[in-house]
Amino acid sequence: MAENNFLDHITHPDAQQYAEEHTSPESDTLHRLDRWTHLKMPYPQMLSGHYQGKLLEFVSRLKKPHHILEIGSYVGYSTVCLSKGLDPKGTIHCIEANEEYEDIIKETLQKAGIADRTTLHIGDATSILPTIEGITFDLVFIDADKKNYLNYYETIVPMLDSEGLLLIDNVLWSGKVLYPQSAGDKETEVLKQLNDRVQTDPRVENILLTVRDGLMMCVKL
Ligand SMILES: C[S@@+](CC[C@H](N)C(=O)[O-])C[C@H]1O[C@@H](n2cnc3c(N)ncnc32)[C@H](O)[C@@H]1O
Repeated sequence: MAENNFLDHITHPDAQQYAEEHTSPESDTLHRLDRWTHLKMPYPQMLSGHYQGKLLEFVSRLKKPHHILEIGSYVGYSTVCLSKGLDPKGTIHCIEANEEYEDIIKETLQKAGIADRTTLHIGDATSILPTIEGITFDLVFIDADKKNYLNYYETIVPMLDSEGLLLIDNVLWSGKVLYPQSAGDKETEVLKQLNDRVQTDPRVENILLTVRDGLMMCVKL
């Protein structure tokens, strides 16, 4: 199957549309952010969006996390979704490499009422992660540069609480992880290594959800 229409075949497009029509709508804040991002921002497809965002919200509501970590915030859409179940005394650390997004993320956090509980780190997550000390996390979302996914995974598993949840986006990589003709591409190779590492890692239980571009969900044992 050609990679470019792979994602349409994960879920039949009609079924996906029906599912989205029968999923609670985004909040006003998130809907406006989604619209604004598509009008004004480069790479609006990076945003989680309504359907995956609602899944992140549900995970957070079920988990009721105390400390959330996000790698790759873009405009803060997923940050807001992840915050939905946050304990009233809980905290969020989010890391975003692109300093041009800093003010946008801050505005999103303000509008969502979570600015006072969030520490925004602007810079490369590979440098910033080792500086986050004295805290463990019970909900983590990795959604940044794919070439570092294996590094992020190995760094973050020790930072997870027992029963902590780790979500990793884009693990199907438009189907490239499935087909040999994509071998050789650096990002694809890292994602394949990551998926195999997670699958054989005795520290976690995992399920690869065929949602959007593939969402790996791990719980630390
Ligand atoms: C797919 S977007 C994130 C989308 C967002 N999580 C959402 O669901 O709405 C990936 C983001 O990761 C950021 N990023 C890329 N490499 C990074 C790095 N090394 N450290 C931190 N952020 C990085 C990019 O600038 C981009 O904003």
